[in-house]
Amino acid sequence: MGLVTSTKYLLHARDNKYAICAFNIHNLETLKAVTSTSFESNSPVILQATPGTVRFAGADYLVAMAKTAADKYNIPIVMHLDHGEDYNMVLECLRAGFTSIMIDGSKHPYTENISIVKKVVELSHALGVPVEAELGTIGGVEDDLSIMGDGVYTNPEVAFDFIEKTGVDSLAVAIGTCHGLYKKKPQLDYVRLAEIRKLVSIPLVLHGASDLLDESVKKCIELGISKVNIATELKIAFSAAVQTVYYEKPAENDPRKLFTPAIDAMKAVVKNKINLVGSADKVTRISH
Ligand code: 13P
Repeated sequence: MGLVTSTKYLLHARDNKYAICAFNIHNLETLKAVTSTSFESNSPVILQATPGTVRFAGADYLVAMAKTAADKYNIPIVMHLDHGEDYNMVLECLRAGFTSIMIDGSKHPYTENISIVKKVVELSHALGVPVEAELGTIGGVEDDLSIMGDGVYTNPEVAFDFIEKTGVDSLAVAIGTCHGLYKKKPQLDYVRLAEIRKLVSIPLVLHGASDLLDESVKKCIELGISKVNIATELKIAFSAAVQTVYYEKPAENDPRKLFTPAIDAMKAVVKNKINLVGSADKVTRISH
């Protein structure tokens, strides 16, 4: 079916109280793990690449691989830029055919964040591509993005104002999650999430969903999260499987022998997450 934009799918998730996973991918193997499992689960899926991955793999290669998977599996697949850092990166991804964009101006002062996001919204919307932005800051490390401490939580009234002023399509909220593994028990601010949900209608995004308890993710979805971002748990499963092969056969030099168990390990995580967020079997329930 070709690549799709996320709009219809995130709205369906919002209206039916489930979420769609956005899985960070890096190469052919990780993309195959995510898309083949989504197909087996009959689930729509968002593939996402950070600017670091775009530089590593190439925006054009990523889109070509994602399109191939969308045609092969005939399920809704979105190609999303995760934490787009500036206008040029957005432009590069749009030119290559990404179907969803995140512009992350959250480290800038509020008015600057608004003007950065607005400019990207104008450009992306002209091409029919939806935009995610972030308000507040999400702690932890993801690729080149590193936020010390717990970050700054999203203020619900400011979120309302921000959406009005930018025209953004979905919003990443800071409610106590962190990118990467948790160094201490996360304290999620569910009351804040519920207040944001009450004030704004666009789909809300949970970053830093690796290493959270399943019941926490479920509660966030109940309270209004429609997109759940997973990176670290996938990377751990993949690299642990590669390490096991090396440990058991230190002389192994065939990439296929290294990566096949890694793909399988990653598929198991993807399957669990799809079941956790409730997107399994939704492809046939959404009109395309
Ligand atoms: P984790 O690495 O904690 O899963 O976070 C992923 C993420 O939020 C990508 O934007």
